[in-house]
Amino acid sequence: MFILPASLLLVACSGALEFSLILDQDAPGHKQNEAAVRALQKGDAERALQKLQKALKRHVTSAALQNSVGVTLMYLAKSRQTALKDKLQQAALHAFNRTVLLAGGSEGLGKGGKGRAKMQPRKGSDLEVALANQALAERYLEASRLNRLGIELDLQNRWEEAAALLREAQKAAPDDPLITSNLGTVIYKNATHRSSGWNE
Ligand SMILES: *[C@@H]1O[C@H](CO)[C@@H](O)[C@H](O)[C@H]1NC(C)=O
Ligand SMILES: *[C@@H]1O[C@H](CO)[C@@H](O)[C@H](O)[C@H]1NC(C)=O
Repeated sequence: MFILPASLLLVACSGALEFSLILDQDAPGHKQNEAAVRALQKGDAERALQKLQKALKRHVTSAALQNSVGVTLMYLAKSRQTALKDKLQQAALHAFNRTVLLAGGSEGLGKGGKGRAKMQPRKGSDLEVALANQALAERYLEASRLNRLGIELDLQNRWEEAAALLREAQKAAPDDPLITSNLGTVIYKNATHRSSGWNE
């Protein structure tokens, strides 16, 4: 297995998305996987996804391909607005979940996460990459959830509470421009509307 160096990933994801790829030279479908990653690095995520989906039809049990699907979906999610972003992130998490299973992990024992805590992947294994990507995708989904709640509070002119939620969202996804810009808006509204007595 070969994990792309972080600098390459940064290019692939035009930000600090720290998702890792599984590029096993001997795995079935490796050539298609590499081609897809090249498309992704050029910023053509749609084409990468097409290539991966085609390859997955032939190599249904490839953890590497499934993992690349997740990374590509997260890349697509990054530049999307709230509703579609959520859908893409859910789909990415689903792909990482499948990757974990294909890499020999188990689904975990429900919400308690006991199963996952017991899972000790070998260092540098496909499973380790899959679990890390799964955890990261969950974090980004949580950020999206907080962002949505923040927007709801903003619509009710509850800017302080909105700002608190958006700050948490920003902690979970520091490089998400949507969250950063929402936070800026809410802080601005809080400052201007308050000082003009708008909310009193
Ligand atoms: C992925 O797996 C996690 C933990 O095993 C679970 O909580 C989540 O609902 C799953 N999500 C999807 C979209 O499959
Ligand atoms: C909102 O405005 C109040 C009053 O001007 C200020 O004390 C508070 O720090 C502001 N909160 C945020 C999150 O900007």
